[in-house]
Amino acid sequence: MEHFEKMLLENKAWAKEKVLREPDYFQRLSVDQNPGVLWIGCSDSRVPAEIVVHAQPGEIFVHRNIANQLITTDFNGLSVLQYAVDVLRVRDVIVCGHYNCGGIRAALQKQNAKLLLVNKWLKHVKDIYRLHEEEIEALGSEEEKARRLVELNVIEQVRNLAHTSIVQQSWRQARRPILHGWVYGLEDGLIKQLTTVPPGSAVSPIYEYVDFPE
Ligand code: CO
Repeated sequence: MEHFEKMLLENKAWAKEKVLREPDYFQRLSVDQNPGVLWIGCSDSRVPAEIVVHAQPGEIFVHRNIANQLITTDFNGLSVLQYAVDVLRVRDVIVCGHYNCGGIRAALQKQNAKLLLVNKWLKHVKDIYRLHEEEIEALGSEEEKARRLVELNVIEQVRNLAHTSIVQQSWRQARRPILHGWVYGLEDGLIKQLTTVPPGSAVSPIYEYVDFPE
């Protein structure tokens, strides 16, 4: 059986099981969504947001890309953030990276001319390496360097979030969301908290918006 055929069969079985347990499960879910959390994670197939935190459909608004980045010029990520914060009014935004991230490891290598678009996307991670080059290069092994860059990337993405007008305006007007930086361990399935940034936290003045409409 092809992989896609198995998926369609699994879907039928899953939907049937849900309805058996709760006959109006899909009717209830189809009315509206009210997730409390936005998850920005890596596209890596081994870090499925809902599964690793045992969440159900409807609980997490999810955005995933290579190396869990929030880039200022990326309309995709920013649209997800704006919708989550301004419309769904999530209380928490979580950036969850993971150790042994292929994107992070690639960013520590030379560029690949056959993967120009991926190179460009990972350029931002290379910039994070350059920002913390001294700290990273002081580490012994390539493995340690990659692990630290995974962590620093998460912390920098949380900073990127705090530097958006979307988050700053919501902090000022609604005292939410809390920003979280997490890292997931592929080897033990556990999440480690790296940073928590509460609403109203100070950002460097050059990233601060001063002229929101009242
Ligand atoms: Co990854």
